[in-house]
Amino acid sequence: MEFNVAVLPGDGVGPEVVAQAVKVLQAVGGKFGHKFHLHDGSVGGSAMDTLGTALSEETLKMCKQCDAVLLGAVGGPQWDNPLAKVHPEDGLLALRKGLGLFANLRPVKVFPMLINSTTLKPEVIQNVDLVVVRELTGGLYFGQPKKRWQDDGVRQAVDTLFYSEGEIERILRVGFEVARSRSRRLISVDKANILESSRLWRQIAVELSTEYPDVELDHMLVDACAMRLIQRPADLDVMVMENMFGDILTDEASMLAGSMGMLPSASLAGIPRGRTFGMYEPIHGSVPRRAGMNMANPIATILSVGMMLRYSFELESEAQMVENAVLAVLEEGYRTYDIMEQGKLRTGTSEMGDLIARRIECL
Ligand code: IPM
Ligand code: MG
Repeated sequence: MEFNVAVLPGDGVGPEVVAQAVKVLQAVGGKFGHKFHLHDGSVGGSAMDTLGTALSEETLKMCKQCDAVLLGAVGGPQWDNPLAKVHPEDGLLALRKGLGLFANLRPVKVFPMLINSTTLKPEVIQNVDLVVVRELTGGLYFGQPKKRWQDDGVRQAVDTLFYSEGEIERILRVGFEVARSRSRRLISVDKANILESSRLWRQIAVELSTEYPDVELDHMLVDACAMRLIQRPADLDVMVMENMFGDILTDEASMLAGSMGMLPSASLAGIPRGRTFGMYEPIHGSVPRRAGMNMANPIATILSVGMMLRYSFELESEAQMVENAVLAVLEEGYRTYDIMEQGKLRTGTSEMGDLIARRIECL
């Protein structure tokens, strides 16, 4: 089969990790006889420097014409001026919004061979295997008004947590569907004791649950969920939540897996069923201080390619092969700096990419 993939490496370590994910994608293509046509584009700070905008119309159009998008990361200290009119992150938000990617899936799985590479106790994190379903194109990130102003010399600012019922319903449906494909338990995370948007969210979750009688629905307040994530994370399975709650809790959840360098994500334009258009990226950022040093862990981006194969191309065996190749290489003891332990084999970004790609060729 043939697929078109937009490749947006972005800033910082983005280009290095994306190069490894591309190696893996090509290895899958070679092994299974698929053709992946790659279309390069720029986004974030590097696009600001070369094109004067964090995301150009042409790049967005090119992404729309592809079957999926592979993204590295955006941002860096050289573009960090809070008073600037444009930020690298605007490029990412414009992609999410412009491509209609409202459903962000962030699976967190603890790999048994990495159980000692985290700051948490092994008995707490063993068997952790959960998915955060994060709403990605609404809520505090996009609600209007969103601005800064001065009144009588007093500086003020506002962001708005707005949701309409359609936006809530479609992300909850993704939550129910993902729960259905796993343990059939769904936790809807909100702040319904305080926020009106959360009260509406909870009401819609209850209404929808009648359509999913096979899924057990629970509600959890976001602060309690933050606590539960480090207290008894293995009890958690599928959780669905508002954009910013999901942003914060997924950074927290990533620590269960030892390193953000291990966590992939999929941002989808619909319920994951059949071939769904999506953008795939590691959940870590651009890590500017590691950029250009061949240090960054490419596994998150490589596992994101696995998710691309699964959700956008409906190639389940190929997706599993990517995951197995990652497991096999970790099993052999290879580690990037972020997951390094005594007695293991320290590797750089590009060697890790080669090892995983080569594994696929011989699996
Ligand atoms: C993420 C990141 C982004 C977000 C930033 C880079 C805009 O933190 O994908 O979690 O806040 O959504
Ligand atoms: Mg984040």
